[in-house]
Amino acid sequence: MKINSIVLENFRNYRSLELSFDEKRNIIVGENAQGKTNLVEAIYLTAFARSFRAVNSAELIMFGEDTGRVSTDITSDDIEKNISITIRSDGKKMIKKDGKIIRKTTELLNNVVVVLFSPDDLRIIKDSPDRRRAFINREISQMRPAYYEVLRRYNDALRQKNALLKGFNKNRFVSDNGSDDEMIDIFDSQLADCGYEIIKYRREFTEMLSDEASDIMNNISAGREKLRIEYKTSCDFISSAEGREILYSQFRHNRDRDIHNGYSTLGPHRDDLEFYINDIDAKKYGSQGQQRTIALSLKLAEIRIARKLLDESPVLLLDDVLSELDLDRQRFLVNEIEDVQLFITSAEPNAEVIKELRGGTLFRVEEGNITRVSKY
Ligand SMILES: Nc1ncnc2c1ncn2[C@@H]1O[C@H](COP(=O)(O)OP(=O)(O)OP(=O)(O)O)[C@@H](O)[C@H]1O
Ligand SMILES: [Mg+2]
Repeated sequence: MKINSIVLENFRNYRSLELSFDEKRNIIVGENAQGKTNLVEAIYLTAFARSFRAVNSAELIMFGEDTGRVSTDITSDDIEKNISITIRSDGKKMIKKDGKIIRKTTELLNNVVVVLFSPDDLRIIKDSPDRRRAFINREISQMRPAYYEVLRRYNDALRQKNALLKGFNKNRFVSDNGSDDEMIDIFDSQLADCGYEIIKYRREFTEMLSDEASDIMNNISAGREKLRIEYKTSCDFISSAEGREILYSQFRHNRDRDIHNGYSTLGPHRDDLEFYINDIDAKKYGSQGQQRTIALSLKLAEIRIARKLLDESPVLLLDDVLSELDLDRQRFLVNEIEDVQLFITSAEPNAEVIKELRGGTLFRVEEGNITRVSKY
């Protein structure tokens, strides 16, 4: 997959930009607050229809403007496509693929698969479980858009169930309204349907992730560190014909506790990933360096998994992350991704590994303008 070119109109600090990219390596340098991450964000938007940092998409529109637009020419499956996303001031987006409106995000995912690696990702092991859930949700959604749909249905049911639970009379453990009990039961049934699928997808993905990431970790550490990743679910999960029923009856049994707490206490929205190095819990006992190496291994594993599942290489966005890694890890990273179209942003154009890179184009960002400086 390749990002061939991009047009930005009133997007963040870009008034109007038209830029074509190198099919291999794009090194984007510039001082702080010039628009490096904003460009990465625009590319990311093309893949997911949402930003990795804006809470509301309206933030993406240039200050004082009504709409913003990102239009990207990409190549995937050897076919050239155009993805255009217009953002309105109410945060709504109009997405078009080759000029035709796309109504469902699932139709957008999978056109271009991007792997983003930013300094935040280096904290994924230490961060709270919701960060890790967001990570697997995003990765599986990109490669398996059906997952995105089932996750959306699960979250809808969960939101509605939680709204009902909040209204229950906690002291009496009963609702004021008998039909609320029936509604809770309907939601639990939906949560069991979708939850079963979600856990199944996540367990499968975690197995692939564990295999690939442990191989990479093995290479980085010269065989010293054996990584294992496990999916830890809050439920009794059995991958079989009865799995869905078992989940549903667990939700039923747990209902008093849900009512007491005022929210749903069981289900994939409470699950987590666990990381072990040489069988020791890396979240609790891993050194900062080990935790960073796991994060790097995860990113590289994502690329390998995408290659396997999609038969194509994804696009890699390295936002300001090289300077956070030591030189050995930087070199390991750039060697592992020879065949991947790469976007690297950096405030330090003289970073050693950037000087070593060959076969790319250097761009300079200044106050929302980007100029092509040279070929490497
Ligand atoms: N909606 C917006 N409209 C106009 N300008 C914006 C908008 N959102 C952010 N900016 C501006 O964009 C700039 C930040 O851009 P960006 O995050 O891309 O910086 P950067 O080059 O990645 O910097 P760093 O090296 O510090 O990460 C800031 O000056 C900010 O004020
Ligand atoms: Mg930045």
